[in-house]
Amino acid sequence: MNELAKQVKASIAGLSPVEALAKLANLFPGEIVFSTSFGWEDQVISHMIFANKLPIKVFTLETGRLFRETYSVWSSTMDRYKQPIHAYYPNQDLLEQMVSTKGPNSFYESVENRKECCGIRKIEPLKRALKGNKLWITGIRADQSVNRHDMHDVEYDEQNNLVKFHPIFSWTLDDVKAYIKQYNIPYNSLHDKGFPSIGCMPCTRAVAEGEDFRAGRWWWEDQSKKECGLHEVAAK
Ligand code: ADX
Ligand code: SF4
Repeated sequence: MNELAKQVKASIAGLSPVEALAKLANLFPGEIVFSTSFGWEDQVISHMIFANKLPIKVFTLETGRLFRETYSVWSSTMDRYKQPIHAYYPNQDLLEQMVSTKGPNSFYESVENRKECCGIRKIEPLKRALKGNKLWITGIRADQSVNRHDMHDVEYDEQNNLVKFHPIFSWTLDDVKAYIKQYNIPYNSLHDKGFPSIGCMPCTRAVAEGEDFRAGRWWWEDQSKKECGLHEVAAK
């Protein structure tokens, strides 16, 4: 674990998620951001930030291929809290080049094409969103996949050279649902229709009862390839 990660870990020991967010916002003014995809984990964290007016910049990666329901919850979140959510769009030249040569649905044709699309629509904008920051907050929970069980709530992200903090890492899905209910937080209506994990529309489908949490993401691909690169590099 790198020095900054150790410092972060020590400074939030014993604190609740919202206390930890407040403390870190204080310790790293202007250098702490939260990424939201408007899934219910992210809605919990947005509520903690917005309701407490914590000085943490909230951003989303607008891939251009999101569900109608995701745009709805994005709007209702801004209506509810009256605070900005910064939208990062793909680089126009890269996107035009890819879609012009390979068509709008190239991601179904190969893992390589899919990674190219995620690279252009998510990773390049993510790099811009993270630039100049020291701390990146996400809504990741250990329960979400086998992969994620091996992660930690505080980790050093070598690729982006910053520390990631997942404030509700140890929460269960029931904890998340209870919190949403308690504070009447707007959430994506797809969660009630068999979508536990929601990404881009063409790359996400509903899962059956008992199926893996992330089974509906890039469902046509081999299990081991199913990360888009946002959180691929497991940090120590
Ligand atoms: S992904 O790697 O499979 O796409 P997942 O959907 O599980 O990630 O979300 C995990 C965390 O990644 C979210 O809590 C959020 O912090 C971040 N994230 C995922 N997609 C986006 C997005 N489009 N915009 C901003 N943050 C995102
Ligand atoms: Fe492209 Fe699908 Fe990745 Fe979205 S999830 S960026 S549509 S490949």
